[in-house]
Amino acid sequence: MKLPQTEISSIIEQYTNDNISEQEMTSWLKTVYKEGLTHEETDRVVKAMLDSGETFDFSHLGKFVADKHSTGGIGDKVSLVVGPLMAAAGLIIPMIAGRSLGHTGGTLDKLQSIPGYRDDLSMEEFQKTVETVGIVMSGQTKEVCPADQKMYDLRDRTGTVDSIPLICGSIMSKKIAEGIQGLVMDVKVGSGAFMKTVEEAAVLGSELKRIGKQFGVNVNIVHSDMNQPLGNEAGLWNEVVEALSCLLGEGPDDLKKVVLELGSRLLLQSGKVSFVEEAMEIQTQLISNGKAMEKLVEMVAAQGGDISVIENPENYPAPAFEAEVISNQDGFIDSMEMVGVGILVNRLTIRHANNKREIESTGGIRFLKKIGDDVRNGKPLAICFGSNEDEVFSTAEELKSLFNISEERIDPPPLFY
Ligand code: URA
Repeated sequence: MKLPQTEISSIIEQYTNDNISEQEMTSWLKTVYKEGLTHEETDRVVKAMLDSGETFDFSHLGKFVADKHSTGGIGDKVSLVVGPLMAAAGLIIPMIAGRSLGHTGGTLDKLQSIPGYRDDLSMEEFQKTVETVGIVMSGQTKEVCPADQKMYDLRDRTGTVDSIPLICGSIMSKKIAEGIQGLVMDVKVGSGAFMKTVEEAAVLGSELKRIGKQFGVNVNIVHSDMNQPLGNEAGLWNEVVEALSCLLGEGPDDLKKVVLELGSRLLLQSGKVSFVEEAMEIQTQLISNGKAMEKLVEMVAAQGGDISVIENPENYPAPAFEAEVISNQDGFIDSMEMVGVGILVNRLTIRHANNKREIESTGGIRFLKKIGDDVRNGKPLAICFGSNEDEVFSTAEELKSLFNISEERIDPPPLFY
């Protein structure tokens, strides 16, 4: 496709302002999805999406302004840990996050499981929270990145998510609008990621880096694995709880490692440290002295959330129903059908009724076994939970078929590529 800036700006602007129909926009998205865009055209999409709203400027704070973003995964609660950790280290983190997209989960949905938490801050509220707390996690609005707000939703409904130019437009317009200097991007690789191979992920990574350069943002790329869920929990509140345990220095090893790797990249970018070892030490200290957790509590309070459940997660309502996923053979977990797994997680956590999207906070899946683990006939592989009995039990039945079990043990995939 060879489209001039005016045409790209015009279609994005008209769709954002409700001047063209969903059908027209869908047909444009499908053409881009099928044919791709050149570098120049992708830059134009980023610019048009950025220009659809206002942008922030936090340079008056005199601190390094940065963010972390992921291309999407299952059980990926890294933002909930890295954000407060970096803010506790003195970086400014003005994070515009997203909801679930395709089969992947969304940071905003997880945060919304905290009673009262507001992810629809006005520009003024966003600005004030960043200035007073040093971190915010909110969504696109009518003022900031309205084009992404509408296009993200339409892409989700029209199967046009895993397109490199559309992913770049969506991510980079939000990130540039935040007024950041540095960005660490976790471009996930594997069956549960939008980019299934290292080669595809490398193309997306270098495109995000190239766009960052055009718009004055230093982008660092990490490729982490998405052939299985990150950590043990996938869902909403259960993911928040796992993130809280990571902020307390506990929690699963894979999650901790991804957090510390991404955090190190940001600390190096900021110039606060010169070596990875120093970055690791600072982060470990901020976790063990409670400062990272304090920052999360401060942010949740500033955004209207109930901090009592953050401080005492055991007081949160338990899911009404639980169903174990029972193995019907002996062997070892060989792989998981991750797109299917992600769809099941979203089925337990997101509802669409009467044109409204609602979250089911207590819905989710706990993975008791991961790739390489041994399993026994009659023993559980995972637990599904939520408020709808039929859905919880039917999901558990379906999930069983998404675990591939072999007779011989295979090594788990690497965490980083
Ligand atoms: N994250 C985003 O914000 N947008 C995408 O298109 C994919 C992941």
